[in-house]
Amino acid sequence: MTPPVIKLKNIGKTYSNGKVEVDALRSIDLEIAQGEFVAIMGSSGSGKSTLMNILGCLDVQSQGDYLLDGSDIMELESDEKAEIRSTKIGFVFQSFNLLPRTTALENVELPLVYSAMPGAERKKLASAALALVGLEQRADHLPNQLSGGQQQRVAIARAVVNNPRMILADEPTGNLDTATSYEIMKIFRDLNEQGKTIVMITHEEDIASHSKRIINLKDGEIIDDRSNNPI
Ligand SMILES: Nc1ncnc2c1ncn2[C@@H]1O[C@H](COP(=O)(O)OP(=O)(O)OP(=O)(O)O)[C@@H](O)[C@H]1O
Ligand SMILES: [Mg+2]
Repeated sequence: MTPPVIKLKNIGKTYSNGKVEVDALRSIDLEIAQGEFVAIMGSSGSGKSTLMNILGCLDVQSQGDYLLDGSDIMELESDEKAEIRSTKIGFVFQSFNLLPRTTALENVELPLVYSAMPGAERKKLASAALALVGLEQRADHLPNQLSGGQQQRVAIARAVVNNPRMILADEPTGNLDTATSYEIMKIFRDLNEQGKTIVMITHEEDIASHSKRIINLKDGEIIDDRSNNPI
């Protein structure tokens, strides 16, 4: 069996602002293998984004071990973590996070700008990623000339342009209507079929039903972890 991409051992996260301490995550044990499609559910404040930030190396745990592809995150320097974020993980957020005065194509190119890749090659990869989400005709549009669903597709193209193995998505359909949400889920399912590991936060049961495994958090703990047959 291949080792898990993600292995969390007894992970805890405590936020403290002055006097108040919040245990956002408590004794989380979790393994996710390459190629899984996992939905993380739970009510507001249950620790979903905190978990996602740790998985994405955007924040560090207060206790426990996180092994990503076998490397202990705590032993990495910050530039090594930045390298992991930019090469192994693609991020998708609820609010799309596109640069406003920048075309769809240029937004998708962004993750490649810091690499040594020649501009023509960058454009080629970005165009291919836009085509993957069905937006090749909109390459020169600015974000405010696109619908919400189209903006999220641009964000997904940006997340996959450098071919990461894993996609982390925090409420990717939170700002979209039902029909558009299904289009976005179709793209995630296709990416998963192509072998990408997907971890997606959602509080909507019908969005989670597109995944193959559903994890429920409550008060910072995993209270349920079950496999799911996507419809
Ligand atoms: N930077 C922070 N400082 C202090 N407390 C925080 C911080 N970030 C999150 N928390 C607290 O940690 C707990 C978990 O927050 P988190 O954002 O992970 O929840 P969530 O499940 O993503 O909720 P939502 O569905 O509303 O996005 C909450 O009680 C929250 O108030
Ligand atoms: Mg959240």
